[in-house]
Amino acid sequence: MSTSRVTLSTDEIPTAWFNVLPVLPTPLDPPLHPATRQPVGPDDLAPLFPMGLIAQEVSTDPWIDIPGAVLDLLTLWRPTPLVRAERLERALGTPARIYYKDESGSPAGSHKPNTAVAQAFYNRAEGIERLTTETGAGQWGTALSFACTQFGMDCTVYMVRASYEQKPYRTVLMETWGSEVIPSPVDEPGHPGSLGLAITDAVRDAAGRADTHYALGSVLNHVLLHQTIIGLEAREQLARAGERGPDVVLGCCGGGSNLGGIALPFVPDEAVRLVAAEPSSCPTLTTGRFEYDFGDSAGLTPLLPMYTLGHEFVPPPIHAGGLRYHGDAPIISNLVKAGRMEAVAYPQTATFEAAVQFANTEGKLPAPEAGHVIRAVIDEALAAKEADEERVLLFNFCGHGLLDLSAYDDYHRGRLIDA
Ligand SMILES: Cc1ncc(COP(=O)(O)O)c(C=O)c1O
Repeated sequence: MSTSRVTLSTDEIPTAWFNVLPVLPTPLDPPLHPATRQPVGPDDLAPLFPMGLIAQEVSTDPWIDIPGAVLDLLTLWRPTPLVRAERLERALGTPARIYYKDESGSPAGSHKPNTAVAQAFYNRAEGIERLTTETGAGQWGTALSFACTQFGMDCTVYMVRASYEQKPYRTVLMETWGSEVIPSPVDEPGHPGSLGLAITDAVRDAAGRADTHYALGSVLNHVLLHQTIIGLEAREQLARAGERGPDVVLGCCGGGSNLGGIALPFVPDEAVRLVAAEPSSCPTLTTGRFEYDFGDSAGLTPLLPMYTLGHEFVPPPIHAGGLRYHGDAPIISNLVKAGRMEAVAYPQTATFEAAVQFANTEGKLPAPEAGHVIRAVIDEALAAKEADEERVLLFNFCGHGLLDLSAYDDYHRGRLIDA
């Protein structure tokens, strides 16, 4: 029997999320209040987030149960398949065995719904009727739109203007799920925008209304927690494929939720290398400073301990809109700072070259964000070939690129520039 695709049944879906906080190499420094610069407490966060999520943000329990209503929704597309990329391996002539977790089959086409449904659930359970959020490429906005419609909530999405203009079909999808989509920054119509500016718009909106909370698609501890379901399933599926485990786990990294989702369950396995792939035009982990910085551009959010390019940094409008964030999750930053995780950066043409090779061997069209990790995986596989070593590589295929065809069009016609 071929081991090229390992599936789990719906009753094998993990019923608890893995909390990495108790096993981080060093304790996480707390978020600081933007005005007082003192550690924030639950009351400071309550205008924006429900208590259920605030509790998860600081929990030190090693496992956190997934509520039944969330599991019920997750089974619409989970467990997701683990696929061995045998055709890519053959094309590379590598002795490495390459496995990917395919998160592209979710309703929104990426990993983002894993946390969207959890966040909508906890907000609805505490009586919230409307959520606001930011979105880069539109993946997170579509995910939250889907989740809100499932729980009967309204949703307003502030979309980075560069992506709003590059990817109109994402907006159509969000509107189909009943959301209002507004290009950001709202008060500067000619500005290409950034995730930091869109967060400012969304936070400002939510802070002004009692029926409204804000939802963040990445960066925060509870978001990475919800994504650990990816790595937990992958661990079981790799075992069923007859592997002892991965040698290297890789993910592309914008705010860190996709990378955290696949990698955090492997943090305790010290022999497993963990690798972040980011754009060289927004190189937070590879060239950023580790310091306290704001999560948004205007300085409304708490200060987080993270690798950052500065909260006013506006990255060039590359196609991987989900990777254009000035900072990184505190959890990911902690792992990189401690040397437990490595980071590499690539210009966008090199990532599209890798994405096209993947599409021609494995058949699936990667989201531009996923092109970054595929570039890193191909380089790792070629290094294994050079060393003549049978390494097991595991990565997250975090989304399809079927709504990013304008990016592929630019690539095919030589219009992509490496900013
Ligand atoms: C497909 C895809 N992958 C990766 C990312 C990067 O975000 P994060 O690092 O939080 O996973 C995004 C963000 O929008 C995305 O849409």
